[in-house]
Amino acid sequence: MTKRTPIIAGNWKMHNTLAESAALIEGLTKNFENKQNAEVIVAPSYTSLAKVAELCKGTAIEVATQDVHWEDKGAFTSAVSPVQAKDAGATHTIIGHSERRSVFGDTDEILNKKVAAALRHGLTVIFCVGETLEEREANKTLSVIEGQLEGGLKGFTEEQLKGLIIAYEPVWAIGTGKTATPQQAQEVHAAIRKYLAGKYSDAFAQATRILYGGSVKDSNVDEIMAQEDVDGALVGGQSLIAEKFRRIINFN
Ligand code: 13P
Repeated sequence: MTKRTPIIAGNWKMHNTLAESAALIEGLTKNFENKQNAEVIVAPSYTSLAKVAELCKGTAIEVATQDVHWEDKGAFTSAVSPVQAKDAGATHTIIGHSERRSVFGDTDEILNKKVAAALRHGLTVIFCVGETLEEREANKTLSVIEGQLEGGLKGFTEEQLKGLIIAYEPVWAIGTGKTATPQQAQEVHAAIRKYLAGKYSDAFAQATRILYGGSVKDSNVDEIMAQEDVDGALVGGQSLIAEKFRRIINFN
């Protein structure tokens, strides 16, 4: 284990009604146990955001949005601004999730504007990167990830990016049940840290938490978290099941 405080984050994606969200928070917080003193974050959908934030008040669980628009307000039908996200109780936001990139067409340029908006309003950014299977097989994993980091974080100083969280989520491992091996995760995480050290500073690289995401389960979290450069997990499917997510929070 590293000295960085681990983070276990749950991305609920487009799941849960209000009642289901409340039940999940109840299941998570009842006799809450956090052996590793991990930072615990949940990212509900917008409809549940305020409710979940309310329920998490006074608990050790922090709340994130799954995305954020780059403007504070305006004629952007269906979008949610960082001002609204904060108002509803979010302290963090995911930006650049692969589903945003591939389904909704978020480009590096758009993501860069979203990062700027989040930072402007003091939301902690969980910036996602990851390669497709095709890119991995073509040996392009590291160059793809470097390009995503370059594009999304373009123009910010190390000072501005302080507190940034990066999530490495190989696209081929998301929702497929196919997890990267601990060695594959470690290799990419170490490369990301090296990139951060080169681009910013060694201190920044050492302080930045890098999460792994992609079919993290109660049964594989321990070996993934045992990797030196893996500082946490961004969990999809299993974050929707209280007992599973509780076990992931209490990884060994
Ligand atoms: P799964 O854990 O369902 O593979 O999802 C990972 C993910 O996309 C988290 O953001």
